[in-house]
Amino acid sequence: MTTAPDGALHVLPDGTLELVSHAVRRQRIVHSTDLFATGNRTLADAIGDRRPLVIYTPAVERWYGDRLHRYLTEYCPHGFDAMLLDRAEHSKTLSAVEMICKRAAEAGLRRTSPMVAIGGGICTDLVGLAAAVFRRGVPHLKVPTTLIGLVDAGIGTKNAVNHAGRKSLVGTFYPPEMTILDPAFIRSLPRRHVANGMAEVAKLATVTDAYLFEVLERSGATLVRTQLGQPQADAIAVIERAVHGMLDELAGNLYEHVYQRAMDFGHTFSPYFETASRHTVLHGEAVAMDIALSAALAAEIGILAPSDRDRILGCLRALGLESTWPGTDCHALRDSLTAVREHRDGALNLCLPVGIGAHTFIGQHDFDLTILKRAHAWLQPGQLVARRPTADVRALS
Ligand SMILES: NC(=O)c1ccc[n+]([C@@H]2O[C@H](COP(=O)([O-])OP(=O)(O)OC[C@H]3O[C@@H](n4cnc5c(N)ncnc54)[C@H](O)[C@@H]3O)[C@@H](O)[C@H]2O)c1
Ligand SMILES: [Zn+2]
Repeated sequence: MTTAPDGALHVLPDGTLELVSHAVRRQRIVHSTDLFATGNRTLADAIGDRRPLVIYTPAVERWYGDRLHRYLTEYCPHGFDAMLLDRAEHSKTLSAVEMICKRAAEAGLRRTSPMVAIGGGICTDLVGLAAAVFRRGVPHLKVPTTLIGLVDAGIGTKNAVNHAGRKSLVGTFYPPEMTILDPAFIRSLPRRHVANGMAEVAKLATVTDAYLFEVLERSGATLVRTQLGQPQADAIAVIERAVHGMLDELAGNLYEHVYQRAMDFGHTFSPYFETASRHTVLHGEAVAMDIALSAALAAEIGILAPSDRDRILGCLRALGLESTWPGTDCHALRDSLTAVREHRDGALNLCLPVGIGAHTFIGQHDFDLTILKRAHAWLQPGQLVARRPTADVRALS
């Protein structure tokens, strides 16, 4: 508990009163294995002397429920409250946040007692938002159990729900006290969801980390097939480099006051694929489609060598990720960018690869439909053969 003042009152020369917040937020990201094993005190120590509300998903209940309940019974000195949260992307909405708040009120969750989220990105996002608004903010801990959670959703400071037909429209920046990363959860994760998580790793690798990209090219298919079991060294490299790389990118821009973010790569066209497919395309799958389209666009305008475009498409294919959604309508895809521009305060700030592990930003206001269509044509089945790109940078810049 800090005793340092967390704000100050200033009187400006014109008499205006100004309150300044000095609040510092700290988030610890720790690694652990076999989290619910007797003797593993990582989660117990994170909860400490508080009575938590533990919120977990049906998959966690099915695979780890008995061990989790035994663990909490043994290690929570004042007991615990529990809530099973069964939500999918189409129901990742404010009503779920309300349900969590209702359960927290019933449990009499105190101001310093944590909500503990154990599940995939949907669970950690919902609990993060509920923790931010319940009593205007209670602590929370995140225990991601999917690959997306381990390398992305669980380690950042953001949370959000879908609203008014828009992906992630309502949310907060509200870091958890601690995120505990246990890759052993991936052993029970269905392969589709392993590939789904690999898309976020591919996003980071493509634009910032050529070494990680080579690991994915070399071992991505095996890593997905073995649920990150083999090859072990590459599994460790994937998690460690992805987590470290992501946090490194986030650190200088935690509240996203800079709109040119490499981590937005793969997240410009992806909301369209997710929403237009009515969420039959998963988040990571949509990110992969965005990566593929971005690579094709970059090659189309002449800033990415066709050989690198083909490496990117080949890497996604090896991970078992599709390069586009069959129902794609390029007009609607282009129109969906209006919402993205709104979110980035008026400019698209499109992150595009200019090589493996390198990127640039293109901040155009109007997107040329012809180029978008030409790039998308590369992503139809049977069209992945190299051809001369028709460079027209002016139309995009
Ligand atoms: N806040 C952020 O910064 C951020 C970043 C990336 C993604 N996200 C969000 O995360 C969500 C996607 O996350 P997700 O892919 O984890 O989805 P998810 O939470 O739906 O989990 C995927 C599936 O895996 C199952 N599952 C979870 N853990 C399991 C395990 N260990 N064993 C077996 N089955 C398991 C779940 O029941 C579910 O069916 C999206 O809503 C996305 O917007 C948020
Ligand atoms: Zn994402």
